[in-house]
Amino acid sequence: MEKTAKDFSDKFDERLKAAKKEKVKIVIKEQYKEAFEVLEDCENSGLIPGLIGPPGVGKTLLLRAYAERSNRDFEWLTGDEGVRPAHLIGSFNPSLVLSKGFSLESFDPGPLLKSMIFGGVFGLNEANRLAEYVQNSLLEPFEEWSAVVPRLGRIKASDDFFPVLTLNPEEMAGAHRLSEALRDRIRVWIRLGYPRKSTEIEIVKMNCPEYTLSDKTLESIYSLVSATRMSTDIEIPASIRAGISVARLSAEMTKREGKKNVTHGILSKAATYVLTGALRFRPGIDPEPAVNSLVRRALGSGGSSSPSDSGSS
Ligand SMILES: Nc1ncnc2c1ncn2[C@@H]1O[C@H](COP(=O)(O)OP(=O)(O)O)[C@@H](O)[C@H]1O
Ligand SMILES: [Mg+2]
Repeated sequence: MEKTAKDFSDKFDERLKAAKKEKVKIVIKEQYKEAFEVLEDCENSGLIPGLIGPPGVGKTLLLRAYAERSNRDFEWLTGDEGVRPAHLIGSFNPSLVLSKGFSLESFDPGPLLKSMIFGGVFGLNEANRLAEYVQNSLLEPFEEWSAVVPRLGRIKASDDFFPVLTLNPEEMAGAHRLSEALRDRIRVWIRLGYPRKSTEIEIVKMNCPEYTLSDKTLESIYSLVSATRMSTDIEIPASIRAGISVARLSAEMTKREGKKNVTHGILSKAATYVLTGALRFRPGIDPEPAVNSLVRRALGSGGSSSPSDSGSS
């Protein structure tokens, strides 16, 4: 059946409400608790922090939770070479300018400006990938708490505006660096790594509310993801998300097979489906046999094959 514009607008409102109702699901203990407290201390002392950690370790989630707990909006933007200052501050809508001129009414605010006006938390991911002149456009907001909005004037940010940068550790040493000037504005560096075993298992459980997974299954999944983080053949290991995905897929496969518990075979199969795309191996390593042998080594073969077995197809 053809959907009308009215159908779309009704559904759109419904989905807007659904987004507002959604609560952040987060385990805040150990490194997350400490990072949360340091964020508070930074904000209270007027210092801008940078969160450093590998992808999927919970940087964005932590900022979202931080904003939620202080009852503020969370705006964010991910840096790349295509981002212009107008993407941060906002820009005039040309068709509205025709009828309303260069007034506030015809201006679409960007995430940085919204955070500055409403006093929200502003997460800037991968700032080191921004072109240098774009990084420099952040100096005034981050140092003076003010910004120039083209044709509309200079605004002073709300006291509740709180900017935070997030970065990947590998990128810290990469070719595109954070400009010296911008780096100088970031005063506190908070590292997040992979959580401890019990915490990561708790995170996996929190993200599988509709399934019951045995401790044994959860432990096996943890052995698998942590093995990828030890391996010298792997450049990008399994993230927390990968562990969650293995847990969810194996629970669902178990249901399909009408079984009660996740079997060794199902877990290996689910793990292979997830890890095939989740890992980046060092150049020269053939991913397929590498994933298979990794799964076999971490989960055991379920039989008696030797741990040095490699390759299969
Ligand atoms: N402390 C945590 N509590 C609950 N879930 C977490 C936690 N840390 C990470 N996750 C899970 O991992 C996912 C990735 O986190 P995200 O914040 O996007 O990582 P990053 O921004 O570091 O790449 C989240 O969506 C969530 O499912
Ligand atoms: Mg992120």
